[in-house]
Amino acid sequence: MVLRTGEEEMNKEIYLFDDITALARRLAGDFRAALEEKAASGESLIVALSGGHTPKAFFEVLAEPPYGGSLPWDKVVLFWGDERCVPPDDDESNFKMTDLSLLSRVKIPEANIHRVLGENPPEEEAVRYGKEIKDSVPPGSNGFPVFDWIFLGMGEDGHTASLFPGAPTLQEKEKICVVATHPQTGQKRVSVTFPVLDSGKRVSFLVAGGGKEPVLKAILENPGQKLPYPASMVNPADGLLEWYVDRLAAPWL
Ligand code: 6PG
Repeated sequence: MVLRTGEEEMNKEIYLFDDITALARRLAGDFRAALEEKAASGESLIVALSGGHTPKAFFEVLAEPPYGGSLPWDKVVLFWGDERCVPPDDDESNFKMTDLSLLSRVKIPEANIHRVLGENPPEEEAVRYGKEIKDSVPPGSNGFPVFDWIFLGMGEDGHTASLFPGAPTLQEKEKICVVATHPQTGQKRVSVTFPVLDSGKRVSFLVAGGGKEPVLKAILENPGQKLPYPASMVNPADGLLEWYVDRLAAPWL
């Protein structure tokens, strides 16, 4: 179900699904449509993936028929919006989750997979990955890389990527990537910054599960309001902002 927000000028859409499986299936269809449109004009779809648990169902649907091998994976270029500073075989690794649920099951050229080297020293990796993005993703008029599609999750505290409430990284206006620290665990993360998120052509939040309801409600019911939740601060200037949500996260809709 598509729910208009009455803010057409904001180019914002909310899609409500019965559950994460229905959400994943719809998103896989949207992904194929966007990819085939790009491939038809000989271009690639440059994507920044989210981590955590929510995208896993989407990746698993994408890996299977009618998607899977029938998609032009050579036209997909993958980056991550954030990564935990752990080796790629660590259970905390967003890359590992994506590899097990999708990358190891489809034929995507190695050169198209731009992994955050979570095993590297965080500060060093934030600089290195920022440069890799800058060298690989075409810039917009503000000089920041323009991803075709950015997928984002949202934590129960309203964080997105690894941009946490009240963190100094929220003020970053120059860098493409920063080092972040998880407020509860102290885990180091490498994350893209708001200027990158706000430069996306299409920015899609995937939000599922009951724990997300209070913050999601506050964000969706108070558009344009100044809220302490980083997820509410994402505002793609010339792009489409979408919310793919399930009924557990948005029971009031
Ligand atoms: C990460 C993410 C993070 C995630 C949210 C939601 O590396 O953890 O990128 O921003 O999207 O924490 O996580 P869940 O989908 O697991 O609820």
